[in-house]
Order: sequence, then C-alpha cells, then structure tokens
Amino acid sequence: MAIIFLDSVTSTNTYCGRNIDNLKHFDIVRARRQNEGRGRKLRKWSSEEGGLYFSLVLKDGLDKIKSLGLLTQLMALAVCKSARAHGVEAYIKWPNDVLAKGLKFCGILSEAIFDGEKLKAVIIGTGVNLSQDKINSEKPSITLKSLGVDKSAEELLKEIVANFTADFALLKDSGFEPLRERYKKSFLYLGKAVTMRVFDEELHGIAEDIDEAGRLVLNEGGKRRLIEIGDMDF
Ligand code: BTN
Repeated sequence: MAIIFLDSVTSTNTYCGRNIDNLKHFDIVRARRQNEGRGRKLRKWSSEEGGLYFSLVLKDGLDKIKSLGLLTQLMALAVCKSARAHGVEAYIKWPNDVLAKGLKFCGILSEAIFDGEKLKAVIIGTGVNLSQDKINSEKPSITLKSLGVDKSAEELLKEIVANFTADFALLKDSGFEPLRERYKKSFLYLGKAVTMRVFDEELHGIAEDIDEAGRLVLNEGGKRRLIEIGDMDF
C-alpha cells in the first residue's frame, strides 16, 4: 500500500482513473485540495484546503464482492466509526453520506474501471470536511473540527483506512451479513418515514431494514421494496 500525496489535483478519482495501470491494490491518492472535486450525480465537491480528500484503489478480490454499492457502504461505515472514536455522534444516511447533527461531513463517490467487460479496479473517492473555513455545498454541511475533532487529515486517513481494510476482508470472505448489525446501528433512520429518490421516482415510506445484501427495505404502506441504488432526501 502506497500513499501518494498531491498538493493540488483536479480530482483524486480522476487522477486514479488516468493512472490506474500504475496503481496497486490498496494504493491511496490524497490531495491537499482539488480544483474539480466531483460528487455523485455530477455535483461538484467543494475541496478547499483543510479537508481530507482521498481515493482508494481496489483491484484484488473484487469478483467476491456482490455489488459496487457495498464498497461505498463499507467506506461510510469506516468513516462513521472513526468519527465516533473521536466522540462525534456520527451516523450514515444510506447509502453513502455520513452526517452529524443533521449536517453532512462526508461523501463518497465510487467508480468502476473496466477493461472491456472485465472489472479492472474500483476507486473509492472519499471527501471528509475536516477543518476547512468554507464549504460550498448545496447540502447542509459541517466540519469535524467544529464538532470537536482535533486530528490532522493524515491521522484521520490512517484510521479510516485501517477500519476499511479490516471490513473489506470480512466483506470479501463472508459478504455483508457480518457487517449488517454494525451498519444498522449507524443508520439512524430505521423505523422512520423517509423520502427516497430512485432514478426518476420519488418514493415515500418507512425505512424498515437494511437487508443481508445491504439494500434498504422501504415499506410503502404495506408494500415492501428493496432498494439497491438510490438516495435518501435530506
Ligand atoms: C458525494 O457526496 O456526492 C460524493 C463526494 C465525493 C468526494 C470525494 S473527494 C475525493 C474524491 N475525488 C473526487 O473528485 N471526489 C471524491
């Protein structure tokens, strides 16, 4: 595992994509700032100095992972655990945002790289609002520093990656089930009314469960729907 540190880059995900053949399993690219930080759904990710911006490259064992979404969920769990270790009441907004006090402090953008039809690598891009002075985001956001976390980006990265590495081995060998209870404990919306966006559809219901495959089980007035890809509204 190597950590490549860049002072400034367009996006660590883009950098990894362009250099994928030279990067190894578990290599990390971190940048002090990004000029074109990318979020999901073609959103921009505000990447001023002071935040933690990194992309983790995965190449081995991917055939054993049932869906790319699970890797994103794993990273959300790793970030959540790390924030909680520093006293933050962090929780996951399924599938991949990490919040505290109703405000977002972490977002994850996972991207798959194919060689023809063969999955060659997965890039897990993670942005954590740590101590930057301003965050240009359409989502209500917060920094970990304002929640009392006094850690450098480098220290936090090490903790998050250690959490992720341990859970990746579990996911690869035994699937999501051994992680499910822990994920559910970090998912505070269980039993609550939520609004979901699934492609162009808006769904309303109760977030009833996270199933053994990491899917959100939405109860829409008695009708259960298993959601694998989608977003919860803020
Ligand atoms: C989201 O919440 O929409 C996902 C945000 C992901 C941001 C990270 S920062 C590091 C990596 N490089 C990027 O350009 N994006 C991800």
